[in-house]
Amino acid sequence: MDTTSSTPPNRGTWSSKIGFVMAAAGSAVGLGNIWKFPYTAGENGGGAFVSIYLLFVIVIGFSVMLTEFAVGRKTGLSAVGAFKTTDRRWTFVGILGVLSGLLIMGFYPVVGGWAIAYIYKVSTGLLSQPDAIGDSFSGFIANPLQPLFWMGLYLFFNILVVMRGVSGGIEKAGKVLMPLLFIILIIVSIKGLMLPGAMAGLEFLFKPDFSKIDSSVVLAALGQAFFSLSLGMGCMLTYGSYLRKQENLVQTTAMVTAMDTSVALLAGIAMFPAMFAFGMEPSAGPGLVFVVVPQLFAEMGEIGLVLAILFFIGLSVAALTSSVSLLEVVVAYLIDEKGFSRITAVLTASGVMALLCILASLSIGGFGPTLFHTGAFDIFDLLTDKIFLAIGGMLVCLFAGWRLDRSELKKEITNDGKVSFPLFNVWYMLIKYIIPVAIAIVAIAGVKAGFDSNKGEIMILGLIIIGLCGIFSKKL
Ligand code: TRP
Repeated sequence: MDTTSSTPPNRGTWSSKIGFVMAAAGSAVGLGNIWKFPYTAGENGGGAFVSIYLLFVIVIGFSVMLTEFAVGRKTGLSAVGAFKTTDRRWTFVGILGVLSGLLIMGFYPVVGGWAIAYIYKVSTGLLSQPDAIGDSFSGFIANPLQPLFWMGLYLFFNILVVMRGVSGGIEKAGKVLMPLLFIILIIVSIKGLMLPGAMAGLEFLFKPDFSKIDSSVVLAALGQAFFSLSLGMGCMLTYGSYLRKQENLVQTTAMVTAMDTSVALLAGIAMFPAMFAFGMEPSAGPGLVFVVVPQLFAEMGEIGLVLAILFFIGLSVAALTSSVSLLEVVVAYLIDEKGFSRITAVLTASGVMALLCILASLSIGGFGPTLFHTGAFDIFDLLTDKIFLAIGGMLVCLFAGWRLDRSELKKEITNDGKVSFPLFNVWYMLIKYIIPVAIAIVAIAGVKAGFDSNKGEIMILGLIIIGLCGIFSKKL
């Protein structure tokens, strides 16, 4: 990311900018796009969900990301510090972000572990029995022990990276494997689209049936937008704090948002046509990518095997570059605010995450404790995706809109007037009034609707936790 003195300044600036965009895109593009987006779209009725999601990405996601980058670069500090040094009363927003990071890392490595396991499974003959692929997946994730091993391995890679041991290596791997993953997704899409009956899948994904929309679908779309773009917990804010003053924030935000969204849509196009062709239910749930994609590869013979292995390597690396950013938010807090050394911070944070992940992984097979009839995996997902991220995003907007100075923000975003941003006033109105009100409405309606499916209690619990963060943040 840095400029070396031997390179001309222009060249240095350019490569540094691409470096940052790739790092931020590395955080954004992950399991959220390839694993979560397709099954969430499937469970929420397809096209209608996708159109609301796109609307939220463009209007809310873009604005919140720009806000996080601006606040991060302006303060030059990570999540907690950025709020604390400006106004101690806002510290809890940073604390809430750290808590969200911890909870997302309470289930993300479980799925990351599945991705690594699939490199192995595909290499050792999974594709030779296409009919057994579905059962093999449900058997695998419900097994109490096997997934724990892969989760442990995944978390171990995370620790290595965040300790800086192989950070150069993973960056390089990311630069090759991310474009490769993109290309493989395109190949899979083409293959899927050529199957008989595939068009019904495209229609399902892109033709909105607005009668399917209710408040829980809208909240799911909002949560998906935040999760996929890595927003609402100070992650992009922390990344923004490393961004140099001459970089164009608006352009960077646009690029990261566009890349993230195109990978998600492409993952949808790769999976739904094939699902319809195979006669599977679109609401197949979290196993979608682990069942549909291998089945498609199985139809391709030898080359399918190679592509399948590369696909799951790419998916694992995409997941790693995302979870590293999550772990980093917690680690930065422990180092900056609690005086931990880097090693102790990484080990403490990942120790807690490992415990949460064990609960999450076991809960899929029906083992371990439940709360309101919900297992740990779903609790962590519900709390973060449906409540913490959206409310966190709302609070960042309120902080920038009401606590920071309008002219200071304008200076930050336009690099002291050097970059033009004609939509500044629109963005400012959005973050000051419209987005906070919109999120509040969606959240309240979504929590209400959640009571129909036993999820409301957990979401209320989330709101109570946010309140407690506010009350006790001075002690943290
Ligand atoms: N966006 C990542 C994904 O789609 C996950 C992620 C990384 C994230 N950092 C985050 C989600 C911060 C929310 C907040 O896989």
